[in-house]
Order: sequence, then C-alpha cells, then structure tokens
Amino acid sequence: MNNIGIGLLGLGVVGSAAAEVLLSKVDKLAEQVGIPLILQKVLVRDVNKQRTIKLEPHLLTEHAGEVVANPEVDIVIEVMGGEHPALEYMKQAIANGKHVITANKEVIAKYGYELLSLAQKRNVGLRYEASVGSGIPLISPFQQDLAANDISTIYAILNGTTNYILTQMSQEGLDFTSALKQAQELGYAEANPANDIEGTDAVYKLAILSSLAFHTVVSPKDIYCEGISRLQAKDFRYAREFGYAIKLLAIAKRDRGAIELRVHPVFIPEDSQLAKVNGVYNAIQVEGSLAGRLIFYGQGAGALPTSSAIMADVLIIARNIHYGRSNIPQVELNQKLTAKPISDIEIRYYFRLTVIDRPGTLAKISKVLGDNSVSISSVIQKESDLKSQTAVLVIMTHTAEEKSVQKALEEIKGLTVVKEVSNFIRVEG
Ligand code: NAP
Ligand code: HSE
Repeated sequence: MNNIGIGLLGLGVVGSAAAEVLLSKVDKLAEQVGIPLILQKVLVRDVNKQRTIKLEPHLLTEHAGEVVANPEVDIVIEVMGGEHPALEYMKQAIANGKHVITANKEVIAKYGYELLSLAQKRNVGLRYEASVGSGIPLISPFQQDLAANDISTIYAILNGTTNYILTQMSQEGLDFTSALKQAQELGYAEANPANDIEGTDAVYKLAILSSLAFHTVVSPKDIYCEGISRLQAKDFRYAREFGYAIKLLAIAKRDRGAIELRVHPVFIPEDSQLAKVNGVYNAIQVEGSLAGRLIFYGQGAGALPTSSAIMADVLIIARNIHYGRSNIPQVELNQKLTAKPISDIEIRYYFRLTVIDRPGTLAKISKVLGDNSVSISSVIQKESDLKSQTAVLVIMTHTAEEKSVQKALEEIKGLTVVKEVSNFIRVEG
C-alpha cells in the first residue's frame, strides 16, 4: 500500500473543512500516519455549484458509486447529513470493505447498532466522534476512558444552534428569528434548522451518548422532547428574577432498571456551571461512580471543531490500516433498560399564566394545584394591564409529579379566570 485513499460524501460546511485539512496538511498527515492520505473523490449534489473551497474538478462527482465503490478509496467520510440516502451509502461503503467515518447523528442514533454490526461482520471500522459535541471528544471517552464507571446521570447542552440562540436572546435581547439567522450564517444549524430548534438534534445526540453510557440500545423514540420555540423574552426576565438561566438540556438519569431520558428547556440555577455555557459552546456533565463529576466543554458546532473530530477518526483508522491493526468496532450494548415515561418524573415547575385581574383568581388557581397535590413555592403577579384587566402570574412549584402537574394545567386552562397558560418550564437543581 503506497497511500490511503479518502472519499468524501458531502462538501458543505463540514466536508469543506475536512477537505481543507486533508489538502493543506498533506505532509504533516503523512508523517503522523506513516504513509500519505490522498483525497480521491468527493460526492456533491451539484458539481457546478460555486464553492469557497477550490478542488480539482476531476475530484467532484454526483455519483455516490464513484466514492463508495471506488477501489482507490479506503476510508469514506460521510458528511452529507440526513437519513437517506446517507444510510444507504454508508451501508454500501461497508459492504465494499471501506472504513466509514460519519458526523451524522441522525443515522447513528437510529441505525448505529445495525451499522456497527455490519462493520464488525465486514471487518471494517465505523467511527462517529463528530456526531456528538462536534470538536469535544466524547465518543472515545465514553467508550474507553469511562468504561470502568457506572454512569448515573448526564446533564448536557448538546446543540450549538439553540444555545447560541438562547444566549443571544437572554444577553443581547435579540429576537428569535435574527438569532437563528446568525447561527445559520455561522454554519452551526442543520440543513433543516427545525431539527435544532425543536430539540431533535439534541435527542439524536442524547440517544448516542446514553447508549454508550448505559450499555443499552437507546432509540430517539425513547426520549421525551420539547424545543425552544415557546420561549419568550419575558421568560428569560422572570427566570433571572428567580436566580435562574434557561437552557435546552439533554438529560439522562439511571433509575434502577429504567432510564429517564428527556430534552427540553429548563430553568437551572444561574450560578451552576451549565448556566455559564454560552453561545455555540456545549457542555456535558457526567456523574461516574469512580471518576465522580466530569464536565466536557467546547464548541459544539462549526466547521473547524467538527473537522477536528473527523480528522481524529481519520488518523486512528489510517494508522491502524498502516500498522495492520484491527479497526473493528466493539459493540457492548447488552444491558436491558427501559425508558421511564415522562409522566412519572418528579420535578419543580415554572408557570406563566395570563389571568383576569380580579379578587379570587389566585384562590381558584391555588385550589386546582392543591387538589392535584402540586404545592406552590412562590407566586408573583406581573404586568397588570388596566385596559384588558388582565395580569401575568408567575408561579414556581415545589417538586411534583409530572402527571399531576399536566392534569392541573389542563384544569387551570378551563378556569374562566384564566386567559391562557402562556408557558410552563421544568426547573432543575
Ligand atoms: P451542509 O453544509 O448542508 O453540506 C451537505 C453536503 O452534502 C453538501 O456538499 C451537499 O452537496 C451534499 N449532499 C447532501 N445531500 C446530498 C445527496 N443526496 N447527494 C449528494 N450530495 C449531497 O451540511 P453540514 O453542515 O456540512 O453537515 C454535514 C453533516 O455533519 C450533517 O450530518 C450534520 O448533522 C453534521 N454535523 C454538522 C456540524 C456543523 O456544525 N455544521 C457539526 C457536527 C456535525 P452540494 O454542496 O452540492 O449541495
Ligand atoms: N446543528 C448542530 C448544532 C451541529 O447546532 O449543534 C452540531 O452537531
């Protein structure tokens, strides 16, 4: 073997950054691996599209077979995104004896177990460090460095786009649409940004991390999910008054034979470490039985950080090829654990209600909460509007069962004194 051939599926934000490293650091990479890494072919949708990266035209193709079935290609890097046809191309690459590296959290979250089993059978590598946390090393630490630990909890900010939007909204007073536009321009958002905003991207990432942490197959369908689109500027203001920040958290907690798995906005204490994670940064707080509390922190999206993780996988696989070592992945997902239904969790809540501003309103709301065993920890009346005779009520509860809270909220919605249940957000810590 004179060189190791690389094929790229995709030349967008991430693919361009990976190609740039492969081309600009040829000598350094050859030195690190022992033989040169040669970019052989790159799949794109449109070969005539104007691109910031300038590649020799013969490198570009619109035919996936020229990458996944190319005899010159040893390692296929999938950075096209989406479920289909990325999944099929990865399967074809594996079937053709290619090692595969991917940044695709959707495919790994939904089909990781299947793909790893295929890779095992075909004696090839399948690595996905860039799929969670972008440049933050997570997959390797979960697979190797923390292997001796029983992991009890993961509290994580796993989506750069939403954390960027929440930071811009709470600190710069930017509106949601402008903050999202900025995140898209910076290359953080998914091709369909609804995946970021509605929490789906964080769900995929939590499925991947919790599978590794709890040695079980966690499907995205097991994870309860709410996105950030219901949040308004006033929620950030009120949160601050109570001493909290609002973050989109991905949470996994081991509870004997079950795991609590959820992604939703939460109030977290302003002085907690996760509350201080701003902009595109992600942080993953893990509680291990031996290591104790660990926090992984870094840029969770963007071209360069993601290329860092992809190139780390390339170097590992390429060195193994060069030195004749195995790249076959280990799959240890043998624990039988079930997902705990969201209705069974116990947690504190913040409610923002728009109510009729007259005597007896609070008594009626308190009665419904009391009847459902939901205890109030504080109530503040905000923003009375004399003209419409309405007011905003902000209520914080003590710890209560989710199903009782949801039942109480349904009953509160039906009260004549309540105009609207404007928001409810869970409170951690
Ligand atoms: P992107 O900018 O939208 O790039 C996608 C690339 O794939 C484009 O070059 C596109 O071709 C090509 N492509 C898409 N569908 C194709 C198809 N059916 N046939 C041929 N080519 C196709 O996406 P990205 O931001 O680089 O993200 C790529 C992957 O990395 C996704 O899985 C994403 O979740 C993951 N990721 C992204 C980040 C980030 O910060 N952006 C971080 C971590 C992980 P054209 O150029 O011709 O349109
Ligand atoms: N859209 C993702 C994010 C990219 O914003 O976190 C990184 O996976």
